[in-house]
Amino acid sequence: MVAVKFIVMTYIKELGKHVGAEVELRGWNAQKRDSKGLVFMTFRDGTGFCQAVFDINNIGEETFDRIKRLPQESSLWLKGTVKSDERQIGGFEIAVSATGVIAEADEYPITPKEHGVDFLMDNRHLWLRSRRQWAIMRVRNRIIFAIHEFFQQRGFVQMDAPIFTGNACEGTSTLFETDYYGEPAYLSQSGQLYGEAMAMAQGLIYTFGPTFRAEKSKTRRHLSEFWMIEPEMAFYDLKMDMDLIEDFIRFVVGTVLESCKEELKALERNTSYLEKVKEPFIRMKYEDAVSVIKGEKEVNGRTSLQMLQEEEDGLRAEVAALQKDIADREQKIAGGELRKGEVNFNRAKIDQLKNDIKDLQEKLDNIPQWLNSAKNFERGNDFGGSDETVLTKMFGQPVMVYNWPQAVKAFYMKEDETDKGYAKGVDLLAPEGYGEVVGGGERETDIDRLKHKIVEHELPMSAFEWYLDLRRFGNIPHSGFGLGLERLVAWICGLQHIRETIPFPRSYGRLLP
Ligand code: 4AD
Ligand code: MG
Repeated sequence: MVAVKFIVMTYIKELGKHVGAEVELRGWNAQKRDSKGLVFMTFRDGTGFCQAVFDINNIGEETFDRIKRLPQESSLWLKGTVKSDERQIGGFEIAVSATGVIAEADEYPITPKEHGVDFLMDNRHLWLRSRRQWAIMRVRNRIIFAIHEFFQQRGFVQMDAPIFTGNACEGTSTLFETDYYGEPAYLSQSGQLYGEAMAMAQGLIYTFGPTFRAEKSKTRRHLSEFWMIEPEMAFYDLKMDMDLIEDFIRFVVGTVLESCKEELKALERNTSYLEKVKEPFIRMKYEDAVSVIKGEKEVNGRTSLQMLQEEEDGLRAEVAALQKDIADREQKIAGGELRKGEVNFNRAKIDQLKNDIKDLQEKLDNIPQWLNSAKNFERGNDFGGSDETVLTKMFGQPVMVYNWPQAVKAFYMKEDETDKGYAKGVDLLAPEGYGEVVGGGERETDIDRLKHKIVEHELPMSAFEWYLDLRRFGNIPHSGFGLGLERLVAWICGLQHIRETIPFPRSYGRLLP
């Protein structure tokens, strides 16, 4: 009988189970370089990245030449032996014994060199293949799964709220209007009001759906289409709502830290602030938060103004140190005594240092603006991005701000009977400048006050009659909140901009691809 050698068809993610064995993989050429009879390829198959080594002595001259000339992002299969190698991307290397091209790619527009953001956004359908984007989408997927796990384990019922709606929920300024059989309809700004109705039927519910807001400006925190998770809980007051927010964020962030180590490493995410979710969150009333922002109240022995000054001094010192390093290296090069390799090394290092200075400079440029808006913040106003940044910088961990002036919050928020003029709303602010990721609170139960608010907010009463029925039939205290999925992805992944958190972002001025 002839001995049959079985080859395992597998995925990069599974390579750890096959060290020393021969496997077959199918995927794409992400990047490669060659040297004297060897091609080193960063090979990807969707589940991960690894290094594939093609040796002319193992695959023959003809195949070797084809691989050597193979354009980036061509698809191919390969067979080879798995080696564990910590230094290589993904931790594994394949010594290829046989290979074949599936489809040769045209010249790929996204090369390993740096590209501008607009170019990358225009090529989003291809950009998704790069390692960073790959890692972000995997983290997003894990977050979504963790959100369902959290609520399902606690007996919450998932519900789908409608996307075409006849009423506003979060104010009329951000509505997208569509034509609904000749009548105006709006794309959903929030599923909350429908969630409230369902909570009266099921007790504990959550929605998980697309949300639309016409944000007519480009910011790093706003999308026109984003995904919101909105739990609604019968018989919950504001305190119980805040406890749930805290448990929820702790669970989701903790799960990602545990399950997405490789992805967070690929993103070079410093996870120290994320680890802080294990500690109790800071909770403070709006009025106290304002005092902290304005520098009237100290936290750990310093005011916000002192904190910003210290941050500025620290950044300036860092810049000075880098500048000195550059000057020293330039002097060495000018001395003419370095070998060619050393000169190149120092030149590359200087370029890197200059980039680091640019990053620090950007941070420095923000400080005067933060300082200004902190000093001049007017009590009673809603927080802007810089106010949230200053506040969270004071603590370096998530902060829940509650009891907001009624005027800056939505019509459905319950007034605090013991704190007149304030609404029992809460915002969860993430550290590191990410700001509001959750908004929620206790709902108004007094039907007359609700009607009054609907009029005050210039909303059409007729569109809210069904909502008022929830107060007419078995009225109860209840609360809920909304988490912006993309804001959470941005924070967990440490991204500068929300556009990278969703496969195909929709924002002001962009509808393609
Ligand atoms: O604070 P918001 O407007 O609250 C609501 O919609 C309530 N109905 C939620 C509730 O109590 N059920 O929005 C909730 C969250 C924000 O904290 C933010 O994370 C996110 O949704 N969000 C956006 N994310 C991306 N782009 C935008 N344009 C966003 N607007 C809000
Ligand atoms: Mg909000």
